[in-house]
Amino acid sequence: MIKRNLVLVGAALTLLVASGCAVAQTSSEEEIGLRKTSLYAEEKTVADTTSYSKAAAGESKLIPRSFENAPPMISHDVEGMLPITRDYNACLDCHVPEIAPTINATSIPPSHYASFRPVAQNVGDQLKYDGKAIDNTSDVISVVHKRESLSGERYVCSSCHAPQSENAPLVENNFTPDFRSKDSIASSNLIDNLNEGL
Ligand code: HEC
Ligand code: HEC
Repeated sequence: MIKRNLVLVGAALTLLVASGCAVAQTSSEEEIGLRKTSLYAEEKTVADTTSYSKAAAGESKLIPRSFENAPPMISHDVEGMLPITRDYNACLDCHVPEIAPTINATSIPPSHYASFRPVAQNVGDQLKYDGKAIDNTSDVISVVHKRESLSGERYVCSSCHAPQSENAPLVENNFTPDFRSKDSIASSNLIDNLNEGL
């Protein structure tokens, strides 16, 4: 019995030493942040300076799209254009389809002249869509309501389209997009293929 206990103690000690080694290989608390300064003191921590495109609208080089139907990022300077308010939206001046082609700007696509929200109604204690009872509006897939004018859901362009700062990424990005057609590398067609595969 004593002999067996000794064996057990020995095994436990081996385990302790082994796990001790494992602990020694992990990173210290100071090393786990993406920044290379102490996590406990802010004084010497300065964020990289942002460097946005200074090229004026009309003179900038388009930024490659991140993936098919990704919102394109803003390639030009937006000085004086942000924030977008109820009474001021400079983006519309140049990007509405009536103006954009005349100044070589990309037109706001048809998807922005539509709403994708199902218009459901509460009738008594039932949720109804198109006269039929449904459990949840998410059961109604990809309904498109075309609009005459820009949908309110798209008014604040900068919530999806943003200028990009030229900084070295802290973590390497290995993602490479697959575009199904050459056209989709530099333009979008979401409204046409929205229901694809459903
Ligand atoms: C004075 C006209 C003008 C204004 C105002 C303007 N843009 Fe542009 N925008 C352009 C032009 C022209 C281009 C094409 C690139 C170039 O020539 O600089 C462009 C390019 C873009 C692109 C890239 C499109 C693509 O196909 O990759 C986006 C996104 C964009 N603008 C969004 C905006 C947003 C959002 C605003 C408002 C904050 C805005 N623009 C205001 C003229 C303008
Ligand atoms: C809710 C997010 C969202 C908002 C808000 C939004 N967009 Fe977009 N935008 C997208 C996405 C996603 C795409 C690409 C897919 C598509 O065509 O719908 C896109 C595409 C575009 C394109 C490229 C069209 C093409 O043919 O390649 C332009 C230009 C554009 N948007 C301009 C604007 C402007 C200007 C506003 C503000 C009036 C705006 N967007 C508001 C998400 C948004």
